Amino acid sequence: MRWTLPLALAGTLVAGATTVIGSPTVAAPAATPPPAPCAAFAAKPWCDTALSADQRAAKLLAVLTTNEKISLLAGDEYLGALGREGTHTGTSNGVPRVGIPTVYFSDGPNGPRQGKSTQMPSPMVIASSFDVDAAHLDGATIADEAVKKGNSFVYAPGVNIGRTPLNGRTFEYLGEDPYLSGKLGAAFIRGVQSQGVVANVKHFAVNNQEGQGSFSIPGIPVAFAGQGNRFFVDARVDERTLREIYLPAFEAAVKEGGVGTVMCSYNKVNGTYACENEHLLTAVLRDDWGFDGFVLTDYGAGHNTLRGLRNGLDLDIWPGLTYNPLAVSLALGLGNVDIGVIDLHVRRILRTMFEFGIFDRPLPVDDGSRIDAPAHAEVAADLGADGMVLLKNAGDLLPLPASTGTVAVIGPEADLIKNGGGSSAVEPLSLVTPLAGLRARLGTANVLYDDGKDAAKAAATAARADVAVVVVGDKMTEGSDKKAPTLNSGQTDGIDRDALITAVAAAQPRTVVALQSGGPVLTPWRQQVPALLEMWYPGQNGGTALARVLFGDAEPAGRLPMTFPASAAELVGAADPQAYPGVNGKAVYSEGVLVGYRGYDAKGLAPAYPFGFGLGYGTVAYDDLTVAPGTGGPAGTVARVSARLTNTSSRATAAAPQLYVGMPSPEGQVQAPRQLKGFDKVPLAPGESRVVTFDLDERAFSYWSTTADDWKVAPGCYRIEVGRSSRDLPLSAIVARGGASCAGAALTVS
Ligand code: BGC
Repeated sequence: MRWTLPLALAGTLVAGATTVIGSPTVAAPAATPPPAPCAAFAAKPWCDTALSADQRAAKLLAVLTTNEKISLLAGDEYLGALGREGTHTGTSNGVPRVGIPTVYFSDGPNGPRQGKSTQMPSPMVIASSFDVDAAHLDGATIADEAVKKGNSFVYAPGVNIGRTPLNGRTFEYLGEDPYLSGKLGAAFIRGVQSQGVVANVKHFAVNNQEGQGSFSIPGIPVAFAGQGNRFFVDARVDERTLREIYLPAFEAAVKEGGVGTVMCSYNKVNGTYACENEHLLTAVLRDDWGFDGFVLTDYGAGHNTLRGLRNGLDLDIWPGLTYNPLAVSLALGLGNVDIGVIDLHVRRILRTMFEFGIFDRPLPVDDGSRIDAPAHAEVAADLGADGMVLLKNAGDLLPLPASTGTVAVIGPEADLIKNGGGSSAVEPLSLVTPLAGLRARLGTANVLYDDGKDAAKAAATAARADVAVVVVGDKMTEGSDKKAPTLNSGQTDGIDRDALITAVAAAQPRTVVALQSGGPVLTPWRQQVPALLEMWYPGQNGGTALARVLFGDAEPAGRLPMTFPASAAELVGAADPQAYPGVNGKAVYSEGVLVGYRGYDAKGLAPAYPFGFGLGYGTVAYDDLTVAPGTGGPAGTVARVSARLTNTSSRATAAAPQLYVGMPSPEGQVQAPRQLKGFDKVPLAPGESRVVTFDLDERAFSYWSTTADDWKVAPGCYRIEVGRSSRDLPLSAIVARGGASCAGAALTVS
C-alpha cells in the first residue's frame, strides 16, 4: 500500500530522511527547548560539524578523564522501567563539563511506554501488512511520540523469529520468516530514525522463548524458574541455522535499516550469554556486518564485567551493575582490561550520538501534550486494517452490506482491546473497542451486546440479530510462554472461548469470528463458522479498524506472517521437550532451518492456514511471469522476476504478491522446499492490472556454508514461484545456476 502520510510528524529530521514533516496540529504550546548541547561548546573541535561522527568522537574522547569515560558505560536510574508518566525507561547521564548531554530511552514496539501514548497496532499487525511503507509509518509515528516525551532512543523493533506461537512475546515480533522480519524491521527503523530518534533492534539474539511455567516482570531480572526461562536458557543452534533463520533480520536492521543501537538478549547462545558473546557481538555484528553503533543490555542481561568489556558490550543500561564505576575501575586498575577497551566502548556511544545529531539539535523535551493524538489514532486505525487477515469468508458473508440491521457483538474481548503484557504494554491515549467501533458505525440501537460469559445466553442473543460478531482473544505476555496455542490458555475468567464460538455459530449462520490473539491459535471450530478475521492485538483504535473492515470501508489487507497450526502436535518441541522449552536449561534447536512454513512444507503437513495466506474482498489473477537477467535492476541484481496482477473483481482491493525460491540442497544438507525472497503490497482498482517486479540478488540464492564460513550459491536448479501465499503459487519458473543444466530453465546464470 502506498501511504499518503496523514500525520503531522513534528520531530526533527536527520539527514537523508524521507518522511513528510509538518507542524503539530495540537494546540498545546511546546515547552521552550533547551539549546543544543554543542551550542555552548561551539569552539570545541568535537562540536565542529564539518568533521565526521568518528572524528568528533575521537576529539571528545581525548578530553575525557578516565572516570568520565567509565561513567558513560552504565545507565543511571532504576525506576523508569515501571513506565510512569514523566519518567523514561532508561537514562544515561552525560558529562556537563564537556557538553555530553543526559539522554533518555523509551520502550518500545507498540509506542512509548511512559504514561499515555498512542497504543499502536502490535508488531504482528505490521508484519501481516507485508507492507514496508506501513512499517515505516509505524516507526515514524512511534518516534514522533517518543521525541515529544523527551527521548532520543526507542527500544524497538523486536525481530526475534516466531519459532513457536507459544512464545509469550509473539505479538511483539514480526513473524516466522527472516526475510519478512528483516525488510519490515529495517523499514520500521528507517521510520524511527527519520524523526531523529535512534532505534534499537532487539533482542540479539535467539531470544525466541520466555519459558514454560516461568514468570518475570518486565525490566526486572527476577524470574521464577520454570523450564526454558529466558534469563538462563541456553539456545543451542548450529551456525547455518543461526545465519539463515535467527540472524538475518538483525543483519537487515544493520545493513538496510542503518540501526543505531542493538540490545543484546538475556539468554545464552551456544553456551555463552548473548551480552558477552564474542561471536555474536564482535565477529558477526561488527566484523561481518560492519555495525558501527553501540550495543546495550536488555534489562539485567549484563552478567560479567570483564567478559562484557572484552567481548563487545558497550552500555550496561540497566541496572548498570556489571559496568558500575567501581567494577570497571577495578578491572582497569588490576590490569584485566586496558584503557583502549574502555575507549572503544565510549567511542562507539559518542560516535552514535554525533551521527544522529544529538549534540547539534535541541534535546527533546518531555511534553506529551504536543502529540497529535487524533492524527495518530487515525494512523493506528489505518495500520490496523492494513494488517487484519481475513482467513475465511464463505459465501462472501463479508463485507456486510450497509443494509445490515442488527449486529450481535459477543465475547469477553468484545469490549476491550487486547494488549500484550510487559514492556510493550502501552497505556492508550484513547480507546475504541470492537463494541464501541460497531456502535459508532451502526448506532447503539442496532448493536446487541453479550459478554459471552454464558454461551447459551450469547447464542440466544446471536439468534435475535442479523449477524453475530464474536470477538475473542488469547492471553500473551512477556515473561512467560503460553502453555498451549489456544485462545483459552492462561485465561482466568473461566470462559471457554472455543465453546462460545461453537455455540454462537450453531445459533446464527451469519457468524463472524474476530480474533484478538497475539499470534496463531488453534481454530478447532473453523469448519463451523463462515467468516474468520484475525485482528491480532490491534492497537487503541482497533474497534474502528474492525468496523471499517467488516463493512468494507477498508480492505482486510493482511497476510499471515506466521503459520496457523492445525494441531498442537505440529509445534516445535511437541514431542521433544529438549527442543522446546528445553531440558536442564538447554533448548536444542534440532529442527535446524525448518522453522514455520519451511517445516510444514518439508514434512508435507497441512496447516490450518498457511504462511502468507489472507483473503481480500476483491479477487486477483496472476499471470505473465518473466525471469530476466539482472541487468537493468539495481546494482547486484542477479535476476529480475516480473508478474502481472489483475484485479478481476468489481471492487478495489489490495494484493500482497509473494516470491519464493526453492533451492537445491546445499552440501547434502536439508533444505526447505521454498523460502520467501520477495513481497510487495499493491493496491488495485477494479479491473486494474499492474506488473510487479522482484529483483533477486546473490543472497536470494545463497545458503550459509559452514565449510566456507560464508554465503555460497549451490550449483543447481532454482525454482522461482510467485503467488498469493506459501501454498498458492500459480506462477513458477526455473533459474539454472553454477553450470547446472535444468530442463526448461527460464534463465541461466553463472
Ligand atoms: C525487555 C525489553 C525491554 C526492557 C525495558 C526487558 O524486560 O525484555 O524488551 O526493552 O525490559 O523495559
